Amino acid sequence: MRLATLPRYPLATLPTPLQRARNLEVALGPRCPRIYLKRDDLTGLAFGGNKARKLEYLVADALANDATTLVTEGAAQSNHARMTAAAARVAGLRSTLVLDARHGSEIAGNLLLDHLLGAEVRIVPDKIARTALMASIGGELRAAGERPYVIPTGGSVPLGAAGYVAMVAELLTQLASIGEAPSRLYFATGSLGTQAGLVVGARAFSAPFVVYGVAVEHPVATLIADGVTLANATAAMLGLRGESRSAFSTSDITIDGEFIGAAYGVPTEEGLQAIRLLARTEAVFLDTVYSGKAMAAVIAHVRGGELNPDEAIVFLHTGGGPSVFAAGASLL
Ligand SMILES: Cc1ncc(COP(=O)(O)O)c(C=O)c1O
Repeated sequence: MRLATLPRYPLATLPTPLQRARNLEVALGPRCPRIYLKRDDLTGLAFGGNKARKLEYLVADALANDATTLVTEGAAQSNHARMTAAAARVAGLRSTLVLDARHGSEIAGNLLLDHLLGAEVRIVPDKIARTALMASIGGELRAAGERPYVIPTGGSVPLGAAGYVAMVAELLTQLASIGEAPSRLYFATGSLGTQAGLVVGARAFSAPFVVYGVAVEHPVATLIADGVTLANATAAMLGLRGESRSAFSTSDITIDGEFIGAAYGVPTEEGLQAIRLLARTEAVFLDTVYSGKAMAAVIAHVRGGELNPDEAIVFLHTGGGPSVFAAGASLL
């Protein structure tokens, strides 16, 4: 596999901790499985999160292409945008962030950090305007003498997904050292780069667990189809698509669409309860957009008897902490 030779710019503090959530287990009652938290909220770059792993490969590619500016897009509270702006600074680059104000654009949380990092922030009213500006911004920056490197939403391209292929090897080493073989790896899935990387890594390194994405946006059928495409593209980039290996198909992508709620970015009651429970049992902070909804799935599955006390599961905490400060007292 080409993973070890893929250029990588160090941004994350690895390995992230794998911690048993014993207080949470007690709170969820005697039928609770062993729950481990894989703390990718502690990847270390500008308050952490899953994008640090993706950006290690994307920034290396940007530097190899002699870029001067990283360009990316997202919602105003995008964790990915904040971490891209931070990665740019670490690597000596500038950044331009195209952010939509669908859920407001108050200068707080991630958006405050974007400004502190000195990113060029372009706020547009909605996703349509965001797509339109992304189509033209490269030309605008080139005309101004920059060499832009455009990172699509969430860094979810094969190079970004490679970060989560590597993460599976890291996690399996940690699990081996404590003698655990969990049945599921839960996490919030959005633009699918994390999921595609995990799926490719799980197969490449023979992981025991099902990679269990909890959707925060989009119809599940669309997500599964896109996940298959991205997993196959990632495997191909890494040289994992030999004749002896079959392509990934829809049965390889598990996505639960039951916890999205009204829409992307709109908090759900179960998500809010999950945020409060994790804070009060483990002193771990989840967010309303991603990790809170993913943890709501874990809690519902424990309470509904879908998981057994004799099994173990891992919850991959993908970050999102800074948006807690933008959400403010609505979390209480
Ligand atoms: C905190 C958090 N969790 C999960 C995700 C989803 O990751 P992906 O876009 O790779 O599906 C994101 C994406 O922005 C995120 O910020």
